[in-house]
Amino acid sequence: MIKRFNFQVHSFISQQHPRLWRISCSEGEKLYTTTMAGSCTGSFKAADLVIQLSSSPKIKPDVVDFGTVFTDHMLTVEWNANEGWQAPLIRAFRNLSLHPACSALHYGVQLFEGLMVYRGDDNRLRLFRPILNMNRMANSAERACLPAFDQSELLECIRRLIDIDQDWVPHSDSASLYIRPTFISTEPSLGVKKPTSALLYVILCQAGSYFNTEMRVLSLWADPKYTRAWKGGTGDCKMGGNYGGTLFAQYEAASYGCQQVLWLYGEDHQITEAGTMNIFLHWINDDGDEELATPPLDGIILPGITRQSILDLTKKWDEFKVSERYLTMGQLYSALKQQRLKEMFGSGTACSICPVGSIVYQGTNLQLPYQEKHSLSSRITTELADIQHGRSPSDWTYLV
Ligand SMILES: Cc1ncc(COP(=O)(O)O)c(C=O)c1O
Repeated sequence: MIKRFNFQVHSFISQQHPRLWRISCSEGEKLYTTTMAGSCTGSFKAADLVIQLSSSPKIKPDVVDFGTVFTDHMLTVEWNANEGWQAPLIRAFRNLSLHPACSALHYGVQLFEGLMVYRGDDNRLRLFRPILNMNRMANSAERACLPAFDQSELLECIRRLIDIDQDWVPHSDSASLYIRPTFISTEPSLGVKKPTSALLYVILCQAGSYFNTEMRVLSLWADPKYTRAWKGGTGDCKMGGNYGGTLFAQYEAASYGCQQVLWLYGEDHQITEAGTMNIFLHWINDDGDEELATPPLDGIILPGITRQSILDLTKKWDEFKVSERYLTMGQLYSALKQQRLKEMFGSGTACSICPVGSIVYQGTNLQLPYQEKHSLSSRITTELADIQHGRSPSDWTYLV
């Protein structure tokens, strides 16, 4: 069975903004609305897909590091300002040919997404809430001044690509195939300006261990001298510059024996994200209430699909307070000293959920409580994995 989403274009938002449309999309029983810049009718269509199969499929390695081995095919869709979107093409995986002045290379006019396809116990392939990735990609594209596209058409093209490379999806509960939609400006000139040509492409790769570590407990390094994102910036979009710019701090974290940076913000050292994960605290808060808390989406937090799913899931349980609120290192430190901290964990597609074991902060190595079994993080991990692998029926999954 192929599950499809219903997209509806409701209206122009206003006469003042005739190029902004309100779009709604239903995923199971849920309805999402978003705005899209540009004309909706100007998208590529999955029905126009051209497929050129590879004549030399690769031999699949057994175990690989995350993001190093790619499947046999890729999806490409070209756009230019004169002719609009071209027909989407699935072809053999290959290098791109880019003009040396291309503004994706010079000014980082580009963005990407990341989602997984899981093989279920029933051998069927499932995507997890992919429309949320399509929404986030459309938001990043608008911020990057890249052209709008119909999210359901892209999702259908991705579904066809996965179908073609389906043998690459591991027969395993612990491994899956990672999907990397990418959108770059191919503007062949050095002026800093809105692109007149662009390339959207999607590649698939095997997802082994993301953190390359046996111990699934993270060590973090927190120093306010580095900032991942700031108010009014692009930290809430998946643009490459947000990531390349963090490498330097990441290597300083490693020099302290830590795996990831805990990104702080502002004078009060607000806790924002860890590496490329959203962050959660499970604690007894200052008011004495049991609470699961994560920072709010105020522009400096990437709106993670796993983050949203954890909030949705735990709110549905209705067992403790679930909040989007500001959290500071001072609050974390007090809770730790007063034994009110139950657990801290990061969340993201690549790692799912990762408990935090320690934080190096202001010359101290804070040791955080963590239980391998019967913790909130292990319960959430199991519930999400059961949905992703089809063991628990859910309208969050999308069959390939
Ligand atoms: C900065 C950042 N935060 C959080 C996340 C987690 O997002 P998701 O759950 O959608 O993978 C990611 C990964 O995409 C990220 O890059």
